[in-house]
Amino acid sequence: MSRYLHLATRLKEHIQMGYFASGDKLPSVRQLANEHGVSISTVQEAYRVLEQEGLVTAKAKSGYFVAKAKERIARPRESKPPQRPMDVSLWEDVLAMLMGHGVEASCEFQHAMPDMSSSTLKPLLKNIYELNRHRPQDGMSYGHVQGELGLREQLVRLTATTGCQLDAEDFVVTSGCQEALSVCLRAVAQSGDVIAVESPGFYGAMQAIKAANLKALEIPTDSRDGMSIEALRLAMDQWPVKAILVTPTVNNPQGYVMPLAKKQALYQLAREYDIAIIEDDIYGDIAFEYPRPKTIKSFDEDGRVLLCSSFSKTLAPGFRVGWIAPGRYRDKVTHIKYVSSSMCPTLPQLAIGNFIRQGGY
Ligand SMILES: Cc1ncc(COP(=O)(O)O)c(C=O)c1O
Repeated sequence: MSRYLHLATRLKEHIQMGYFASGDKLPSVRQLANEHGVSISTVQEAYRVLEQEGLVTAKAKSGYFVAKAKERIARPRESKPPQRPMDVSLWEDVLAMLMGHGVEASCEFQHAMPDMSSSTLKPLLKNIYELNRHRPQDGMSYGHVQGELGLREQLVRLTATTGCQLDAEDFVVTSGCQEALSVCLRAVAQSGDVIAVESPGFYGAMQAIKAANLKALEIPTDSRDGMSIEALRLAMDQWPVKAILVTPTVNNPQGYVMPLAKKQALYQLAREYDIAIIEDDIYGDIAFEYPRPKTIKSFDEDGRVLLCSSFSKTLAPGFRVGWIAPGRYRDKVTHIKYVSSSMCPTLPQLAIGNFIRQGGY
């Protein structure tokens, strides 16, 4: 294939995959020539091909743009998963992906991570340093089984921005959000029970379902506003669903934020069928909205919502500080957390608690 046709095909793929949306400005001729190591005339020829296909329009003195046409992104609006509870598979694939972590020269897509070189983290590192220097025993001691009070007091403040009114004793600190999800699943369900999940869903949550010997019932999920409430109701009429596990705010992998009315409807449905909701809010604080979107937990009048999150996406994943606001399941959650890993390391909790109190978050 000639160079210009090869380039045209690549650009076409990028437009069709949605990297460039309708009306977006495309890279300049010079930029593409540099990026692809081809001549200016090769790029011009590639753009001419795309213009002829109606995919691209040229504007005098402005460059090339994606033609404003019908919807180009072949993105399914609603998933169509199998309509029955299933065993979770794919652990080998997940493991291979996790083992690939840190392989040199690779670009990591398996974990979403914050910019840990950011200077905004310096006050947190200073807190760790100061604690080590002046109160080393504090960080080395056993902590509280629910987590350090200083941190839990700050979690009260943070969750207030999600629409919740909670107290420090309403939290259990965990080793990241992964442990939070795993502990919650074990607290609300027993071996063989069915958990309703989004389709697609976060692979770590799916593996937690597998490890707890539970079955996943995938619910059709709209790529713009999340799990279908109608499909969920139908599924719950048909199967003995024990809990719903959702990431409704900045979903992983689809990115949507479920509208507030839909979050409320989901809560009402769980109430009607008397089941628990495990709400993964790990990305909630980094939504492109201010104030940040409210949680399903903000509607929780009877403690059936277990809100899970961590600082892995906002500060750094290596601290392994997460938490659960488990509502009426607090005692069970505390017990399961205790028997699985006792309490969490004290130093990162103390440092993060101080950092938030000082206004660093
Ligand atoms: C949706 C979701 N939940 C939970 C986790 C696990 O978070 P943590 O690293 O705090 O255990 C992740 C991590 O990628 C995630 O994307």
